[in-house]
Amino acid sequence: MESESTQLSPKPHSVIAIYPGSFDPITNGHLDLIRRGARLFDKLVVSVLRNHDKTPLFSLDERIEMLREVVQGYPNVEVGSFTGLLVDHAAACSATVVLRGIRAISDYEYELQMAHMNHRLQPGIETVFLMSHEENSFISSRLVKEVFGLGGNISGLVPPSVEARLHRRLSEYQNVEVG
Ligand code: PNS
Repeated sequence: MESESTQLSPKPHSVIAIYPGSFDPITNGHLDLIRRGARLFDKLVVSVLRNHDKTPLFSLDERIEMLREVVQGYPNVEVGSFTGLLVDHAAACSATVVLRGIRAISDYEYELQMAHMNHRLQPGIETVFLMSHEENSFISSRLVKEVFGLGGNISGLVPPSVEARLHRRLSEYQNVEVG
């Protein structure tokens, strides 16, 4: 019987990876992963999930715009969006890799489950994990929003353009509350 490794198709000439997520908003942790992924793969598609259960702070278009602003310096990085199964989207993009970051052991269980499920759905697509750098290991979009909403300092946790957007969003909310 052939072992699984001999059944795998040969490595494609150019390796396309998908980096999926909610990116509500993009943090410096995400950006670091994009920077490293762009070095590892021939093309990296950063894909924002549409129609997520969670109610986002930023609309899909805003999240895409923020991502495009910060990936301008990476010629092999594209920004897109998807709905439905991630593996179907990956296949439609001819991607053979799904890139995900792991910050702490608490991420591991969820990520492992997703990686196994995605592999079952589409065995030709591999999930590649990168460990977040130590300085980013505590950063999440959720905590950034919480800290910012409570008046805490978030500089250094998100790109400056994203921090500016958060300030604008906050003043929009304040104007609505006052008006
Ligand atoms: O930034 P997030 O919220 O951790 O990203 C989660 C994401 C978008 C990677 C995950 O929810 C996803 O892939 N959703 C698409 C639907 C899908 O394929 N579900 C089965 C995954 S095993």
